[in-house]
Amino acid sequence: MATSKKKTGKQATWGGRFKEGPSELMGRFSESVSFDKKLAPFDIIGSKAHAAMLAKVGLISKAEHAAIRKGLDELDRQIAAGKFTWDTALEDVHMNIEQALLKKTPAAAKLHTARSRNDQVATDVRLYLIDASRQLMRACSSLLAGLVVFAEENQDIFIPGYTHLQRAQPVSVAHHVLAWAQMISRDLERFAKVYANCFVSPLGSGAIAGTTLPIDRAASAREMGFEDAHGQPRLTDNSMDAVADRDPHIEFAFACALCGLHLSRMAEDVILWNSSEVGFIRLPDAFTTGSSLMPQKKNPDSMELIRGKSARLSGNLMTLMMMVKGLPLTYNRDLQEDKPPLFDSHEQLLMCLEVMRETLVGATMNQERTAQAVADPLLLATDLADYLVLKGVPFRQAHHQVGALVALSEKLNLPIDKLPHKDALKCAPKLGKDWTQVFNLKRALAARENPGMPGPKTTKKAIAHWKKQLGL
Ligand code: ARG
Repeated sequence: MATSKKKTGKQATWGGRFKEGPSELMGRFSESVSFDKKLAPFDIIGSKAHAAMLAKVGLISKAEHAAIRKGLDELDRQIAAGKFTWDTALEDVHMNIEQALLKKTPAAAKLHTARSRNDQVATDVRLYLIDASRQLMRACSSLLAGLVVFAEENQDIFIPGYTHLQRAQPVSVAHHVLAWAQMISRDLERFAKVYANCFVSPLGSGAIAGTTLPIDRAASAREMGFEDAHGQPRLTDNSMDAVADRDPHIEFAFACALCGLHLSRMAEDVILWNSSEVGFIRLPDAFTTGSSLMPQKKNPDSMELIRGKSARLSGNLMTLMMMVKGLPLTYNRDLQEDKPPLFDSHEQLLMCLEVMRETLVGATMNQERTAQAVADPLLLATDLADYLVLKGVPFRQAHHQVGALVALSEKLNLPIDKLPHKDALKCAPKLGKDWTQVFNLKRALAARENPGMPGPKTTKKAIAHWKKQLGL
């Protein structure tokens, strides 16, 4: 079998014990800079904190610290401006930055004192996840605001609520949309927890067993703002765990996957509402697409893509969990594979949240179709059973009697509320003269004002609560 003979020849940082550099194939196979360059701003924050600590304990001089800091700031700007040339031969973001810094100052050769890429990358990703969680929290809040506005605008429109995709009981559009809001607000809380859990510093754990040098882990933790509510530095407790741990990654990916599932369920509701058969909602042109063949089509692609991308978010979580399964302590190169799924979940979920918001903000309810659907009196069959309960009929019997009324209405081909009173009495002897009033929709909803129910007053209160919470 032909093997790759080409060599990259370059390996500045760990080349000491090697006679030759990695093969061209191995170089291509093992480089991560093509994707982990995304960590650059966080790598620089971590390096600045580490350098400040090295200066504090006297492992580098003040002048060396100043040169390192200045160089890192320059690199930060250069990278942000897209003016940095990444070199795959230097493997990863860490070595690219270190080598570039070396060109600016010889002090760079001291930056990696008492540090390994293992604690470095664990730190970088925590800093990245703090930023990513913050962005996603903001996106969740902004979707929530969109949902609350949509709920408020449509609180007087009623639709059937469904179980088993069968018409069940009437609800307001607001109540349905606020159910989505609950899901997204749990996501927001979940991201807040993921965010808070990231503020623990692995720096100083070294490759696996710390260092013999007199470092001050609390100092670098403080530099990065990794402190508790009392201003105490938060440090990882075990150097082996610190470099092997990928829990923050997995927790983040789980929060993304679950949020994706929520968005997917919302998207499915919207797709159903938008179907020709249901027709409750009209989606904005800007978030739908046409067919290249059928001129009449306006497809809910934004919602379908959200549903599709949610699979990807769950897949990313699975990738991370499988990556650590069966991995011995501590660092193994497998762990380099943690970045693409993390970045992907972050970027894709951010877009999904924005697209969901924009699609709903531009959507309108079709009141003709909703009124038609919610006029089905069978949606209030359960209310009729409740009516009988108030007349003293045990619920099981009331349920049975209303079932008989439904069967009779089917037999006579009459809506249940149009059954002749004397026929109805044969099924349910306790019915009073007023029994058909149960089928008044407004009355039915007004009877549901316990906490969490879809009554209009309760819904108004819920909307007011959300608005206050979101500062709307
Ligand atoms: N690029 C590597 C990663 O993300 C950095 C850590 C490398 N450590 C090592 N021992 N090779 O995992």
